[in-house]
Amino acid sequence: MKVSIAERDKKTIWHPYTPQKYAPVTIPIVKGEGVYLIDEEGKRYIDAISSWWVTIHGHGHPYIAEKIYQQARALEQVIFTNFTHLPAVTLAERLLNILPGPFAKVFYSDNGSTATEVALKMAIQYWWNKKDAKRARIIALRNSYHGDTFGAMSVSERGVFTLAFQDKLFDVLFADTPTAENPDIHFPNLDERQTDALLDETACVIYEPLIQGSGGMKMYEAGALDRFLERCKRRQVICIADEVMTGFGRTGKLFASSYCKTKPDIICLSKGLTGGAMAMGVTACAEAIHAAFVDDDKLKSLFHGHSFTANPIACAAALASLDLTEQPEFAAGISNIVDKHRSFCKQLQPYQDKKIIKNLRQTGTIMAFEVNQAQDAYISDIRDLFTNRSIEKGVYIRPLGNTVYLMPPYCISDDELDKAYGVITDILNEI
Ligand SMILES: Cc1ncc(COP(=O)(O)O)c(C=O)c1O
Repeated sequence: MKVSIAERDKKTIWHPYTPQKYAPVTIPIVKGEGVYLIDEEGKRYIDAISSWWVTIHGHGHPYIAEKIYQQARALEQVIFTNFTHLPAVTLAERLLNILPGPFAKVFYSDNGSTATEVALKMAIQYWWNKKDAKRARIIALRNSYHGDTFGAMSVSERGVFTLAFQDKLFDVLFADTPTAENPDIHFPNLDERQTDALLDETACVIYEPLIQGSGGMKMYEAGALDRFLERCKRRQVICIADEVMTGFGRTGKLFASSYCKTKPDIICLSKGLTGGAMAMGVTACAEAIHAAFVDDDKLKSLFHGHSFTANPIACAAALASLDLTEQPEFAAGISNIVDKHRSFCKQLQPYQDKKIIKNLRQTGTIMAFEVNQAQDAYISDIRDLFTNRSIEKGVYIRPLGNTVYLMPPYCISDDELDKAYGVITDILNEI
């Protein structure tokens, strides 16, 4: 008897973020096409969350695929110490041209977590290289998420993701996420002067601009963040923007930091960087940061690198993705989603009025709300309910606990968006 792929999978594979006792039966996907994932029986699913927020131009994009193929035939991998290659150099040049701020150097890695790890190491070692032992503190925001490696976990909100490791994580001071009512930086029981003194002992602050993704698609305002960042900058705190999720159009602009006057000193990118076609991370920094590593003393080097640093195929995919961001369809796709989401939020208002949902919100191409009847938690059963029902209906939605959100690829059509919206309202009507 032929054993199915799903059964073979169950025997051999440990899936991410999946309780092993309750692991769902996985669906073997054989093809990706535009906004669709297609399974082995030909059933099509609208990928309404862009496969963990990475796919921006759609799956199986022929232009990206062709560039990957060409690069794979020419040079698939090379150690990135004594060697370089044109795709890496061109990509760095093009990124430095479009990044939101005066960035000077690009450091390549593999994914979002490594991009934030590198940023933290750059910031911490910057002060070490300058022999300023006082600058020891790291500030992060409440509700933040910066990845699953130990440094990234340390600067993320302590919660279910980090529970088992809490006594192994380094100390971080969590500041309230700035809001319109409460902009600037606040710590309980500290007055202005004490806050400044504390900032004077701080190496860096790391933040997800405008939207805290895994923390529950929490949205906050650029004006409030600006006040916060200005204050940090005045006290020479290195500002690290984690744009792993928000980068490449998610908030409406190419980068969320473009909504703020105060620019970061370091920026982290991944996910949409390659259009979602290849794993890659980028950490870009301002010249002032890099300059602290230019020294006769070899101990002042950043001793960090990964086997696949600046992998040529990933660089080629990122270059192809950047080409696509320059096409009119890119901006048009984003603004269409922004408008359609806005109307859908209006359509959902009665559900909020009846308290079936709460905190209905939208920033750019991301809209979200909480299902009211459930507990506010990542392990809420609403996640499974929504996911299972939406999959049956041919749309893939995977709430963060009871936070339901949409973050589709920009190539999604009006009909496909309407289908996703319809599935959401159908499920809300059922519960
Ligand atoms: C803001 C942010 N930073 C970092 C990461 C970690 O990225 P990765 O999953 O590629 O390690 C994520 C992933 O969701 C993210 O949303």
